[in-house]
Amino acid sequence: MADLSTTIAGVKLPNLLFNASGVCCQTKEDLQKMVDSESGSLITKSATFERREGNPSPRYVPLSNGSINSMGLPNEGYAYYLDYAKNYDYQSNKPLFVSLSGLSLEDNVKMIEAFKAANLPCVLEINYSCPNVPGKPQLGYDFEGMDHSLSVLAPLIEGPFGIKLPPYFDIAHFDIAASIFNKYDNLAFVTCVNSVGNGLAIDIDTEQVMIKPKDGFGGLGGFMILNTALANVNAFYRRLKNKQVIGVGGVTSGKEAFLHVLAGASAVQIGTTLREEGPGVFARIKKELSDIMIAKGYKSLDDFRGKVKTL
Ligand code: SIN
Repeated sequence: MADLSTTIAGVKLPNLLFNASGVCCQTKEDLQKMVDSESGSLITKSATFERREGNPSPRYVPLSNGSINSMGLPNEGYAYYLDYAKNYDYQSNKPLFVSLSGLSLEDNVKMIEAFKAANLPCVLEINYSCPNVPGKPQLGYDFEGMDHSLSVLAPLIEGPFGIKLPPYFDIAHFDIAASIFNKYDNLAFVTCVNSVGNGLAIDIDTEQVMIKPKDGFGGLGGFMILNTALANVNAFYRRLKNKQVIGVGGVTSGKEAFLHVLAGASAVQIGTTLREEGPGVFARIKKELSDIMIAKGYKSLDDFRGKVKTL
């Protein structure tokens, strides 16, 4: 095997692959499946202050080239994940990331204060990009609001942390977002991208939308968003100073994981393919990525990270 290890926010991962928050991570039983898998790490479902049922079903549907979802942040409430993180065996297990998605700045502050008081070695990823909570626009698209949130949360967290971003589609937006992120030294990584928000899948036979919430509008994931994800990874890899990028979007095999690293990713999360294939996906994609690296003569991720060639 090639060396697939990586370091995120100062924490060493035995390999670069783990779950995208939202898949295989809502309950302790789900998280145990991640622990037992060959992933290099695991991340919890984005927590809100209170437990949430989420949106009505059907709220996730696989499509021929990916998926659509409008889960609406179903989760057990932050106290559940704090308890999980407190009881996690950091010595013998892979590193743990915890995703927080407060419905207000005040909720994020309260959750972060609780995690800080517990003084745990888990890494926080703040989710600025859930497209599926009716009446709550994605903070990642509100540059002033996101800057204000970071100005409160970054000093509060003190240590290295990350943020989960929505996809951006305009060079000016990459520039503005990066100029905000570069102001915060302890913002250690950005995770690009969350689902492409508010797509619409329609069944031609029934002439009906395919998911129930929001009249069928939901976040697109899987292979169909690969190129948007790669663009966001590379745009932030080029613009961010002393920060890392975690790539997510469109990974179905070792080939797409390789492309994410080539674009600049230091780790790669898997969402739709994990949901469809189960945790065995990590062993398969590790092997496929290693085979590609060996065939190309690369021994470690550093040998090709961010080295995509331009014409
Ligand atoms: C959801 O729960 O709706 C998905 C989470 C996300 O997109 O951040």
